[in-house]
Formats: sequence, structure tokens, C-alpha cells
Amino acid sequence: MTTAAAELLAAFRSYLISLEDPAARDFAAAIDWTMPARALEPAGLSCLGHLDRAVSLAPIAERPLVEMLARHRNEWRWGQTYASADFGQHFMDNYGWVELFGTRGHFANDRIAAGFLLLGPDITYPDHHHIAEELYVPLTGGTGWRKGEGGFVARASGEIIHHPSNVSHAMRTGAEPLVALYVWRDGPLAQKSTIGRGG
Ligand SMILES: [Fe+2]
Repeated sequence: MTTAAAELLAAFRSYLISLEDPAARDFAAAIDWTMPARALEPAGLSCLGHLDRAVSLAPIAERPLVEMLARHRNEWRWGQTYASADFGQHFMDNYGWVELFGTRGHFANDRIAAGFLLLGPDITYPDHHHIAEELYVPLTGGTGWRKGEGGFVARASGEIIHHPSNVSHAMRTGAEPLVALYVWRDGPLAQKSTIGRGG
């Protein structure tokens, strides 16, 4: 029987290996895709309503992945790393992620973690950094991304955004929500990010 999680993993793999970018290829090659499924109790979040708009925003290459994420939204274990004391309640109401694989994800992997980040419209995810090296691929466009000391740059869907270890980064949505794919490696895979610039 093919589970929704197995379908999502297959779609995630197809998408990641389709990206013609050295960093994406390097991350994809480092993943052992034969990972055991982990039975997780589903958990929802208030931000999940933004998934429907994200599906309609996603271009043709990204849409199957976003559509699958949205269609099975009630089967995923959505989580939040922060609390309202970090970035406020409005942020918490419009932010969430699901780990597809990793130390806590729907598939067990203790070397690399990956999943999806969801942000609602008009949300700033302030500067933060972490030990793990990170690859982000926005699946919807129009969000501003900042890396290191630079300003916010609008990133299209399908762009590759690479954050080396401990380099701070921030995201800022405009009128539309964001769904982005992420991959983490070479660091504590369940670390709460350190808030603020630095690194
Ligand atoms: Fe990050």
C-alpha cells in the first residue's frame, strides 16, 4: 500500500533531483532514499488554510508537490520551533513546518532532514541562524529572502537558496503566502535556530 507520506517523499525526490544546480545536486546525492517510515500522530496548525492559495500560486513544476502537501494536510505532523515570546502571536498563527524526513519526520533519517515551511501573507521571519547547512527552494514566488548582511531579495519559485552553517537569514512575505522546501545537513537536525544576526 502506498501511503500519502510515501507519495510525498517520491514527489519530493523527483523534484529535488530535477533541479539543475550544483548545491541541489550535492544535497540530493547525499540522501539515502531508503529510509524507514515512522508512524507519527498528525498535528494541525492555524496556518494551514494558506495552503489552498499556495497551490494556485505554484507554477507547473512545483504544483504537484504543493498540491500533495495541501491535499493530505491533515495527515502531516505540523510543528513550530518558536513560541509567541519569540516573534509574537501573529507570526505563530501564520507559520509552520512539516518534517518529511529527519530525526523527527515521517521518515527516519539521522543524517539529513527535509520538509516544507509555510508562511502566511505579510509575515516577517526575522534573522536567525543554525549550525546545519541548509538548502531552501521556494515553491511559490514573491517572498523576500535575506542572507547574511544583504537586503531582502525577491526570490522566484524554483530558485536555489543556500545557507552555509551559521549564516543568518530572514524571509518576508508580501500579499501572498510562501511554501518552501528545505533540506538540512551536517548539524543538529532538530536544533531551534538562534534568533538574531550573527554567524
Ligand atoms: Fe534556516
